[in-house]
Amino acid sequence: MTTSFDNAAQVLAPPEPELRFLRSDRANEMILEPGGITVEHGRIAALEPTTDAETHIDASGCALLPGLVDCHTHLPFAGWRAGEYEQKVTGVPYEEISRAGGGIRSSAKALRETPDETVLAQAQELAGEMLRSGTTTFECKSGYGLSTAGELRALQLATELSQIVSQVTTRTALLAHAVPDGYTTATWMDEAEKMLPEALEHVSALDIFVESIAFGLEDLDRMGELASANGVLLRAHVEQFTTMRSVPVALRHNARSVDHLSTIHPDDIAPLAASDTAAVLLPGAEFMGDEATAPARDLIEAGAIMVLATDGNPGTSPIFSLPLIVGLGVRRYGLSTREALLAVTLNAAYVLDLQSELGSIERDKRADLVLLDCPAEHVAYRLGRNPVAATFVGGEPAYVRPDAAWRIMEG
Ligand code: NIG
Ligand code: FE
Repeated sequence: MTTSFDNAAQVLAPPEPELRFLRSDRANEMILEPGGITVEHGRIAALEPTTDAETHIDASGCALLPGLVDCHTHLPFAGWRAGEYEQKVTGVPYEEISRAGGGIRSSAKALRETPDETVLAQAQELAGEMLRSGTTTFECKSGYGLSTAGELRALQLATELSQIVSQVTTRTALLAHAVPDGYTTATWMDEAEKMLPEALEHVSALDIFVESIAFGLEDLDRMGELASANGVLLRAHVEQFTTMRSVPVALRHNARSVDHLSTIHPDDIAPLAASDTAAVLLPGAEFMGDEATAPARDLIEAGAIMVLATDGNPGTSPIFSLPLIVGLGVRRYGLSTREALLAVTLNAAYVLDLQSELGSIERDKRADLVLLDCPAEHVAYRLGRNPVAATFVGGEPAYVRPDAAWRIMEG
């Protein structure tokens, strides 16, 4: 089965094959030029079109990108917290919302009280929404369990979700998200360690929320040891609200990523940029929560592996559209189109350790692709508009917008 993508106005491709990541100070080397590609048996077979194909995709006027990779979401969860958002924007302090049972705890309660089928149905619907926005790979996290049984159930649900969505997914155990009632950070870390063997059946990464209201540097240290002892990646939510100086600790453990960084200490930028730890910025959470702005430009200029993600969750960032995140990132951080697109493709795939399989348009990679009905520059420029005409997973059309159906020609 051969498919030829013909006459694209732009095809996004890396400057060299087989990159693990591209440091963002080199993002402007990303190639964005007219062309086409050939897909065979679900993989990219050639970086040029062919006349000899069963299916032709007319990509005229379109940008052809690798499928977008959302490397930081909190799926699966139950329900939403719209009331809390209205309180927040009308000036109710977070402490008050939290004292009244809001925040992570309210999502934990909702998850506990919602049957499996309902949780999965909500997550599956969101995955469909993400597919229509061009996301072909996403990460799931636990973290709303707040008990051993709850966390293991969340991971089990994430594994079940992977079987009913079109996308490739990965799972991360965010075992240290909020300190459950009756525990200290240290006694909860003991629990986390005990549940680890079972959790590891589901996940490729461990995660922790390091914050004055959550876990501390010593807990991050311990999570780092657990990750390396068990051969999984370390991820960490750091420097979101408070400058905790988590970055040097995460770097000592060779974390795959540090996420948020809205309040990163200036002295931590250069060491982070010199490391192989990715800097995952979450402009949706910053925008929705009126948080500080991560120093993206400094990180890029220092040579960091800069990544953008939705942080999709019912609290801080109920946003699941990477095109919107690209728009927010470009506006907020002053990114070029290539910097922003690199941050939601190859570099995001690296965060999930899927870079050899997907994340860029190059020979032999999975043909996970997104066809935009406009030039790539319009993604950020026409903020809030969905530019996705079609999404392809493993070479097959997984979503085609009705007004783009004519582009797919059999025979
Ligand atoms: O990444 N920062 C911690 N965790 C989430 C928010 C979770 C929530 O509010 O439900 C985040 O922003
Ligand atoms: Fe998060």
